[in-house]
Amino acid sequence: MEKEFAFSSQAAYEILYRFYVVLKIAKIHDPNNANFQDQLRHLMAALNEPLRRQGRIILQIRRNAFFINFTRIRVSYSDFYINRSLLVEFGRREIGTLTFSEGLDGAELSRFIAFLSGQNPHKSILFEQFHEVFTAADFRHIQAEKAEKLDFNSTKERQNRLAAQTYFLGIAHLKELSKTEERVSSFHVTKLWIQTIFNHLTDDESFLYGLTNIKNHDEYTLNHSVNVCILSMALGRRLGLSNRELMELGIGAFLHDLGKIEIPDAILNKPAHLTAEEKRLMDQHARFGAAHLLRIQGNRGFSGRALAVAFEHHYKANKDNWSPYRKKNNINLFSRIVKITDYFDAITTKRVYRPRAFTREEALNIMIQNKDAEFDPLVFKVFVAMIGVYPIGSLVIMDTEEIGIITEANPHASMAQRPMVKMITDRTGRKINGEVVDLMDIDPQTHRFARTIVKTLDPEKYGIRVADYFLAQVAEVPAVT
Ligand SMILES: [Fe+2]
Ligand SMILES: [Fe+2]
Repeated sequence: MEKEFAFSSQAAYEILYRFYVVLKIAKIHDPNNANFQDQLRHLMAALNEPLRRQGRIILQIRRNAFFINFTRIRVSYSDFYINRSLLVEFGRREIGTLTFSEGLDGAELSRFIAFLSGQNPHKSILFEQFHEVFTAADFRHIQAEKAEKLDFNSTKERQNRLAAQTYFLGIAHLKELSKTEERVSSFHVTKLWIQTIFNHLTDDESFLYGLTNIKNHDEYTLNHSVNVCILSMALGRRLGLSNRELMELGIGAFLHDLGKIEIPDAILNKPAHLTAEEKRLMDQHARFGAAHLLRIQGNRGFSGRALAVAFEHHYKANKDNWSPYRKKNNINLFSRIVKITDYFDAITTKRVYRPRAFTREEALNIMIQNKDAEFDPLVFKVFVAMIGVYPIGSLVIMDTEEIGIITEANPHASMAQRPMVKMITDRTGRKINGEVVDLMDIDPQTHRFARTIVKTLDPEKYGIRVADYFLAQVAEVPAVT
C-alpha cells in the first residue's frame, strides 16, 4: 500500500460519475441486463487501481461535497446534477461514508448496487434502519457509516439562513442609499454585499433564486432591485462572465433603478395608466439614475458598464425607444442582461395598476412573444434556459394529483421538465409539509417515472405564497427595517 498515492481530481470524479450511472441504470434494469453489466465493469475498473494501491476507497460526504480518500471531488456546473442526485441517495439513508476495501469484486459490487437501488427511493429512512438490512445483506468489502447530522441539515440550514439575511440586508442597504446624499462612503458596503451575494450564488444558486419570489409591493423598487441583481448575476454566470465582470454587473443591476428616487410617489404608485406627461417623467428615471451614480461615485468610480446599466436598461432590442442622440450601434452587454431580468421581475410582481402578477411561466411566455422587439436574442436564449421550462418557484400539479413548488431546476436541458419539487399537498389535496422529491425518480414497481408535471397553477388562486416555502427553510427571518 503506497501512502503517497494521491487521487487526481479526475480519477476521483470518474468514480463518482460511474457510481451515479450504475445506480441510475439499476433503477430501470436488473443486474443481468447487458447495459447494467457494462456500466458496472466501468465502475469496477475505476475502483480497481486505487483499491490495489491504497487498500481501500473511502467515499465520504462533507458539507454537501463528495470526498474520495479525502480528496474533494470537483464537479463542474454542468455535472452538478450528479452531485445532487448522489447526495439525495446518501441523504435518504443518512449515509455519510462508504468504504470499499481490497478484495471487492464485480459480483459483490453488483449485489450492492442492486441492494441500494432496490430500496424504496421515495422514502427517507433512518440510518439505523438502513444499516440493519445492510448488515443482513453481508457485504464483505463494503462498509457504511452514518452521516453526522451537521453534514446534511445544519450546514445547509445555516447557509440558507445567511443567504436570506443577505437578501434582506440588501434591501436595507439600498433603502439607506436612497435616503441621503452621503453615499460615497457606503459604496464599499455595496461592493461587500455584492461579493456576499456572489458567494451565495456559487454555494446554492437555487435557494437564492427561490428568494427572488419575495415580492413586496410597498417597497417595490428596493425588493425589485435585489431580485434583479440576483437574477442578473445568475444569468451573467451562464454567459461565462469573469468574477470581476459579475461583480460589476451585480453593482449595475443593484442600482439600476436608483433614478426612481427622483420620481414622485404619486406617479410611481399611480393605480391607473400614466398620462403622456407622467410617462415622459417616468421614463427619465434611467437618465436620473445614471446622473445620480455619476454624482455619488466620487473617486471610487463605478465601472462604465455598471453606470451604463442605469441609463440603458429599458432600451429595446429593436431600438424603438433609443435616444435620438445615440450614435453607437449597440448597448453594452450588462444593459442587455438587466433589460431581461428587470422585465421578468417586474411582470411577476403585483402592482397597484396590475392587480394580478403573472406566474413565472406566464411571464416567460409573454417574454417569448415579445422577444424580437425587446431582447437581445442570444442573452434571451440563455435566460430561457436558466429559468427553465418550469421556473423555480412555480406551483405545479402532478399526475399523482399532488401539488408542489419547484425548488431546483434539472441542469440537464433535455430533462428540464423533471426538476426537484417540494410537495405541499398530498393526493387528496390535504396540505402537508412534504419532502423535496426528484422528478427523475423511477417507480421501482412500474419502472416509469414516479411523478410527472401536468401543469402549473396560479399560487394566488390557491392562497399560496411561494416565497414562504423558501423562507420556511431558514429558522429566523430577519425583519426589514
Ligand atoms: Fe427601470
Ligand atoms: Fe427595474
